[in-house]
Amino acid sequence: MWLLLPILLYSVIFLAVRHIYSHWRRKGFPSERAGISWSFLHQAYRREFRHVEAICEAYQTGRDRLLGIYCFFRPVLIVRNVELAQTILQQSNGHFNDLKWDYVKGYRRFNLLEKLSPIFATKRLSEMFGHVQRVGDHLTAHLLHLEQAQGGALELDLQQMLRVYAINITGNLIYGLDVNNFEQKDHILSSYVSAGHGSLQSFTLSRLPQKSSFTYRLRDLIKQGVEHREEHGLIRKDILQLLIRFRNGNDICGDKWQIDMDNEQDKLLSIKRVAKVAEELLKVSLDSVSSNITLTLFEILQEPLIVEKLQTEIKELSIENGLLKFEELEGLKYMDMCLKETVRKYPPLPIIERICRKSYTLPNTKFTIDEGKTLMVPLLAIHRDERYFSEPMKYKPLRFLHTEKSAECQSNAFIGFGIGGAQCVGQNFAKMVIKVALIKLLQNFHLELDAALVENLEISHQPAPFIRTKDGLKVRLKRREIKPKFYN
Ligand code: HEM
Repeated sequence: MWLLLPILLYSVIFLAVRHIYSHWRRKGFPSERAGISWSFLHQAYRREFRHVEAICEAYQTGRDRLLGIYCFFRPVLIVRNVELAQTILQQSNGHFNDLKWDYVKGYRRFNLLEKLSPIFATKRLSEMFGHVQRVGDHLTAHLLHLEQAQGGALELDLQQMLRVYAINITGNLIYGLDVNNFEQKDHILSSYVSAGHGSLQSFTLSRLPQKSSFTYRLRDLIKQGVEHREEHGLIRKDILQLLIRFRNGNDICGDKWQIDMDNEQDKLLSIKRVAKVAEELLKVSLDSVSSNITLTLFEILQEPLIVEKLQTEIKELSIENGLLKFEELEGLKYMDMCLKETVRKYPPLPIIERICRKSYTLPNTKFTIDEGKTLMVPLLAIHRDERYFSEPMKYKPLRFLHTEKSAECQSNAFIGFGIGGAQCVGQNFAKMVIKVALIKLLQNFHLELDAALVENLEISHQPAPFIRTKDGLKVRLKRREIKPKFYN
């Protein structure tokens, strides 16, 4: 009897695991042979398992447009064809809605992200540009100061500096604070950067932990900011101001910044919800922005011709009293191509994940995904697939030059900001912020990579999902100045 019990228990577990791991085969989907090995369990326990790399490897194992895999006990479907991925992302509305962004007004349910997207309209961004420039100037001033202190030749980890730049952007634009973390090292946002997001371990954005130990402290910042502005009717042209306008039922599509308060009316968003939106924006923007600038520099510093072209473009800017003009950023076409090429080769979010809310028949296939099952679009693998991008591991910004010859397959497969209704709302904001940092750095400094670093730089998605270099980006930096056109 006592011997039978463990045998019975083992058999039940074995059959249950086998049942889970045969899900895709039973449904008729192409799938990988799967099981749980000791080495996998060991790596998972030590948090060393590389989810992103494993999913990209699975992408490469065959040519079927879909592949069923298992993330632990979760059956997941990987899309291995870019046209199918684009169709699903564009046409699947209602089947894959992310409940995280739902909010209710009256009797109706809305998607908050869609409602908030006017925050990132061009007109709004142009008015926030002053803050972005100031944060850019803090970066330059800090580096110039360090360089001077070192007697003219400075070697430092630029990735870390750019993370501080990105958190300063967040502090100034999202949290609405005049903060400079290059100087205020004890600020809560500084601690956020130095904590290094130890808790982030997920494959994708939709599985980021909802709360970190910083959540409550960040909520206090928002509470103070919201109450202060509502009480005193203050105007500061930033993202927080527009969140407060939205909370008070004011239109955010126009160009007014003033908060029109109606104390009788219920608020559309509680302070807790505003804080949650702000923290979400902080999480998605911090690493994506800093990694894009870092990896753009890593690539271009190996190609003097690219740097020269960028500097020529920067020279054309009519900078007055050290101030850039927002409208002119649009004209930096070659820089645009570089940013896009960096997002292609190193998408900060390597995988887009959708959880099926309502069973969905995949377009032009006989397959139906059941409610609750997960679908993944591995951007990283698609962007490095030579069926879509020639010589995918080469950094070639000009592949995004739209000529009749090149436009066809070189750029259509690019989905680095997502596609369709759920694509990245902050992409124009991201481009503005990245361009300002690149202009400031290339204009003021001569930058040089350590040759040994080029060979050995480890770029990975650890901790997942965001991409970054394991040991930073060591760069030698020397003051320089490109004379802008205005002074010629
Ligand atoms: C180079 C920089 C960036 C890249 C490549 C990028 C890319 C992406 C991608 C691929 C998605 C997922 C789209 C989907 O699910 O279909 C996304 C979502 C999003 N992005 Fe970005 N992003 C960048 C920067 C930013 C910035 C700076 C902000 C805001 C300030 C932002 C705000 C968002 C938000 C709010 C979402 C939705 C998140 C969610 O659903 O949980 N992004 N982004």
